[in-house]
Amino acid sequence: MRETQTIPLAQVQRQLQLCRQLRALLPGEEGRRTAFVDTYGCQQNEADSERLRGYLQEMGFSFVQEAEGADLVLLNTCAIRDHAEQRVYGNVGALSHTKRRHQEQLIVLCGCMARQDHVAQRLRTSFPYVDLVFGPQLLWKFPELLWEKLNSGKRVFATQDVPGTVAEGIPQVRGSQVKAWVSILYGCNNFCTYCVVPYVRGRERSRLPQDIIAEVQALAQAGYREITLLGQNVNSYGKDLNLGIDFAWLLQQLDQIPGDFILRFMTSHPKDASPRLFDTMAACEKLAPALHLPFQSGSSRVLQAMNRGYSREDYLEKIQQLRARIPEVVLTSDVIVGFPGETQEEFEETLSLIQAVQFDALFTFIFSPRKGTKAAALPDPMPKEQKSANFQTLLQHQNAISAQRHQRYVGKEWTCLVDGQGKDGRLTARTRGGRLIHLQGDPALIGSWQRAYIHDASTWALFGTIAE
Ligand code: SAH
Ligand code: SF4
Ligand code: F3S
Repeated sequence: MRETQTIPLAQVQRQLQLCRQLRALLPGEEGRRTAFVDTYGCQQNEADSERLRGYLQEMGFSFVQEAEGADLVLLNTCAIRDHAEQRVYGNVGALSHTKRRHQEQLIVLCGCMARQDHVAQRLRTSFPYVDLVFGPQLLWKFPELLWEKLNSGKRVFATQDVPGTVAEGIPQVRGSQVKAWVSILYGCNNFCTYCVVPYVRGRERSRLPQDIIAEVQALAQAGYREITLLGQNVNSYGKDLNLGIDFAWLLQQLDQIPGDFILRFMTSHPKDASPRLFDTMAACEKLAPALHLPFQSGSSRVLQAMNRGYSREDYLEKIQQLRARIPEVVLTSDVIVGFPGETQEEFEETLSLIQAVQFDALFTFIFSPRKGTKAAALPDPMPKEQKSANFQTLLQHQNAISAQRHQRYVGKEWTCLVDGQGKDGRLTARTRGGRLIHLQGDPALIGSWQRAYIHDASTWALFGTIAE
């Protein structure tokens, strides 16, 4: 479905009213009602879970860290690879036990998996204790769907294909007081041939600039230090609004908001990442010197089969353009190994691309066929073992590159945002470029910008102390 549905504010307010009415129907005592929210997948889903928690809080829930004993369990699922789905099925299976011990427990499954017909079918037949299932477009309606479930006593499946929605005014319970996610557009129009996202998240639709600006202003005033703008392809921001604005324009507006915060964004699509974006990144003070730019494959033939809309040469040229403007930029990327029909020579082109670019970090995936996508129907002759071997080779090459890239931090001081504390008691921090630092220091520093002296580095992280 192509249309976008803007949900009127009155509709969202009605949901909030329903939240208060639901308090009389929900399991658990008022004041002691607990929910466990389990989130899978990308930052979009994390951001969605913050809104689901917002609604749940209005219903009187507080949050716990495990399903056992919780009055409501909500799984916000991801469909990007088979592995993600199998984990969800495993965890839904285990809920039959928590529910047996707590008959009143409500089990809700939402997110990207819920928009797939075969998943809905399997939940209907194999998991009879799942009470409510709804896709990402209907998140705004969660209270109403729960209301329907509790009043009818029947399971509710709201998994149909509906137009992509944009809803403002949903309350949020944010996971951090230092870092915040801000969705700027939803859905995707790119139909990369391996990817399920356009099917489960619908077409691209942008939030209005004034809504985004107001949200960032409020976060800055509340003292947030890192704000990450989210979208499957942030470079498409504004195209559907017909206001003559684009992503670079939005960045310029947000850069002018007063506050001691840094701005990040993800994800950028190489076909739309332009010199105009790179110029804006270089010019805007608050923008992190970092870009996550997934290349997916080093072979132009494979890129075409993936419907990515750029060649190997185009990609390398963009990297050059970016580095010419921001030499110290931290570059990260995603890559898929074993796309159907990828030859050994083509895999080697991926290896040579990562050598040529020298990414700071790389997220590597083995191709996973997704029902309904074009690539799932392509002949895929390369044996699994070969794909795994290639995957390992790629990891080894990248690990060496990452370790070497990290060496440039050692023996110097870097500005960083202290954002938390690890299990081992050390602080965690991020450089402006986004590299992780394990830091010796006082937990009172969490939420502040500091100078860190880096004395050591590994493939994954830097090690430092607060500089005098
Ligand atoms: N919108 C982002 C990516 C979202 S999904 C973009 O276009 O860059 C995150 C990553 O998962 C993708 O970049 C891709 O590398 C990987 N991925 C997506 N579908 C996949 C599949 N079917 N099998 C393996 N990896 C996949
Ligand atoms: Fe998937 Fe491609 Fe859209 Fe990214 S741009 S979400 S990989 S279809
Ligand atoms: Fe997964 Fe949906 Fe994100 S499929 S990666 S949670 S958009």
